[in-house]
Order: sequence, then structure tokens, then C-alpha cells
Amino acid sequence: MPQTLLINIALLAGTHSSNAVLRGAELQQLPAIFDAWLLVKGGCIEDFGKMNQLPEALKTQSVCVDVNGATILPCWCDSHTHLVFAGSRETEFVDKIKGLSYAAIAAKGGGILNSAQKIQAAKEEDLLEAALQRLQELMRLGTGAIEIKSGYGLTVDAELKMLRVIKELKRIAPIPVKATFLGAHTYPLVYKQNPDGYINSIIKEMLPVIAKEQLADYIDVFCEESFFSVAEMKRIVEAGKEYGLKPKLHINQLNSLGGVQAAVELGALSADHLETMTDADIQTLSASDVIGTLLPTAAFFLRMLYQPARALIDAGAAIALASDFNPGSSPSGNMNFVVALSCIQLKMLPEEAINAATLNGAAAMDLQDVTGTISIGKKANLIITRPLPSLAYLPYCFSSNLVDRVMINGAFL
Ligand code: NIG
Ligand code: FE
Repeated sequence: MPQTLLINIALLAGTHSSNAVLRGAELQQLPAIFDAWLLVKGGCIEDFGKMNQLPEALKTQSVCVDVNGATILPCWCDSHTHLVFAGSRETEFVDKIKGLSYAAIAAKGGGILNSAQKIQAAKEEDLLEAALQRLQELMRLGTGAIEIKSGYGLTVDAELKMLRVIKELKRIAPIPVKATFLGAHTYPLVYKQNPDGYINSIIKEMLPVIAKEQLADYIDVFCEESFFSVAEMKRIVEAGKEYGLKPKLHINQLNSLGGVQAAVELGALSADHLETMTDADIQTLSASDVIGTLLPTAAFFLRMLYQPARALIDAGAAIALASDFNPGSSPSGNMNFVVALSCIQLKMLPEEAINAATLNGAAAMDLQDVTGTISIGKKANLIITRPLPSLAYLPYCFSSNLVDRVMINGAFL
């Protein structure tokens, strides 16, 4: 494959010299080169530098692409999605507009159980086809690495079916895909009176097959009132750890139950959602190595209070941003909007938001050595924007699609 030389890059952003996760004030540091070139070879970043120092020979040795003053960024690293789902839930969306509560919607058969029914009835190949189409749409919007959870199956067969779809996506997708087992998303109706029965099914029936078939990298639990308690989360996570699955956890979306302290004790890679945080929760998370993953589009869609990003960053936390793409609380996986909303509503600076959606998102999937920055040897997964007056223009013009082209593994989509 010939090497590709991108020239006349007005701003090449994200040229970090280290892959270490960024925390606190470090999140503001987004190293960049003005007026740059970048060389791509074998699907990876081979070299980059300033236009006025471009070695002449490179021009003749490469396919030269003049990007005409574009800004180039590493692709978004979306570390929390529920990309595999069947059908949609806009009826619930309209019910919510009319004033129905979450409980009333659940009583009508809505919520996670609605998606579970649809997944249970769906064929594996149809789930794969729908998820692949969503993934391709997200790639065109600049997503270059993604985590995907199960959790809409809620039976042994349907959870395994979801995870096999994710495993197949891993095999065929051109971007890195990570799989998370979220059997503990909610209690299926048949176990409503017997929660221990479902937890036993997760631990004794699902986990051994998941481990044997290598269907997951991580384990997740939805720890909330009326869902899974902190004690139940600990039990499930400890069982997952026995099989080598690291925890990435849904905590503190609706309530502060002690999930943050538990996530730290369990050595979670990330603690996700965090809409409802006490001062003590903020301090505990910020003093730990757990990456706090904020999902602002879920708060936006559910009309909830936004995550306290400023307090977390000011306390020194490591923050990532992700889309939470799912049919119930965030029917969008557009990371450009996630970044914009983080600046508009969470008061993150553009540099903080971009770092949180790239390097720190990659770290929240153990992919920081593969992608997330403009570094020699990393995947050439790049966002090439329309010409921008400055980097802040990206989140500022929140509804314009400023992603002109996307390069994945060195090839333009
Ligand atoms: O991450 N909070 C739990 N799970 C999903 C949404 C669940 C649903 O309504 O489908 C989330 O927001
Ligand atoms: Fe989620």
C-alpha cells in the first residue's frame, strides 16, 4: 500500500508525547502543531511535522493529499455504548413528553424490558446487520474506537446472542471494538420476586460461557435503587473478575448509594454516568485511578441535571466522555454533539472535552497505546474537519457537521 502524505493541515491537534490518562488541570493541555503535515503508512501514523520542515523527498514518495487548511484530530474514542439493540422506543419518548413518569412507562412494558423483549425475538444476523449500519454511521461522524455492552438480553440465550454479535463486530469492524457484559442491567420479570436467582444465573450460567467463548473484556452492573444494590454489584463484579473481566460500572445516575466507593474498592477501570454525586463522591473518585466517564447526552435526553464535570476536574479527576448510545436514554452516538454539550452544559473547555473524548476515552477501553492521540505508530484513525477559525469553533457550532472526511486505518471512508 502506498504511503499517504497529508499536507497543509492548519492545526494538527492531540500530539501528546505520553499515553498517560489526563487528570485535573492536565485535561486543558491539548498539544498541537500549526501548519503541519502528517504521513500515513501501513494504516498507522508514520510521522508528522511542520510544513516548513517537510522533507522534499516525502512528496515524491507518497500519495499527496492537500487538506487545504483543515484541522486534524484523532478519531473519537467512545468508551460507553449499547450499540446492539433491536427496534426503537420513540413511543416512550412521546409518552415522556406527555408527562408519564419512568415508573408509569415501565408499568406499560417500557424501558429496558421493552428492549429486552425485542432482542429476545430478534435473529442474530439481523442484530448484527443493524449494529453494523449504526457503527458505519458513527464512523462517518468521526468515531474510531468503541465499547459495546450487552444487557438487553436478560436471559442466558439472549445475553450470549448479544455478546456473539459484539464479538462478530470486533472481527469485521475496521475500528477497535471492546465488549462489556451487562447481564445485570435490570431484573427480568420472571426473577422480580427472586433477585438472587437472576444473580445466580449471571454467575453460574452466563459467566462461564462468556469466559469460555471469550465474549467479553469487561463486566458492568447498573447499580441504582430498584435495580442492583452496591452489595449485589460487588458480588457480580467479584465473580466477573475471577474470569478476568475488569469492571466498568453504571453508577450514580439517579442516586448516590455508595457506588463510587465500591467502584474504587473493586478497582474499576471506569465509573460511568455520575449525574448524582455528593461532595464526598467527587473527592473519592478524584483521589482514585478510576476514570469518571460522563454521558451528557443521556442527561440531556432524560432532562436530568448534568454531571458535575467542573467540580470533578477541579478536584483532579480523570474524566472521559462517551455517548451512551442506546434506544432508551441516548438514541444518538454522535460524539461531536457529546463534545459540544460538554462545553455548553458541563462547562468543560474545548481542549478538556476533546482530550476526554479521545485519549481518556481510549484509556477507558485500554486502547491508549493504539489510538486516541496523534502519535507515531498509532492507528491512522483521523478526523479531518472543514477549515475552522479555531478549535473552539468545533463545539461552538454545535449543530453543523464540521467533520469533512474521516480516515480509518489510513484509508478515507
Ligand atoms: O446507560 N442506565 C441504564 N442503562 C442505559 C439506558 C437504559 C434504557 O432505558 O434502555 C443507560 O442510560
Ligand atoms: Fe449506559
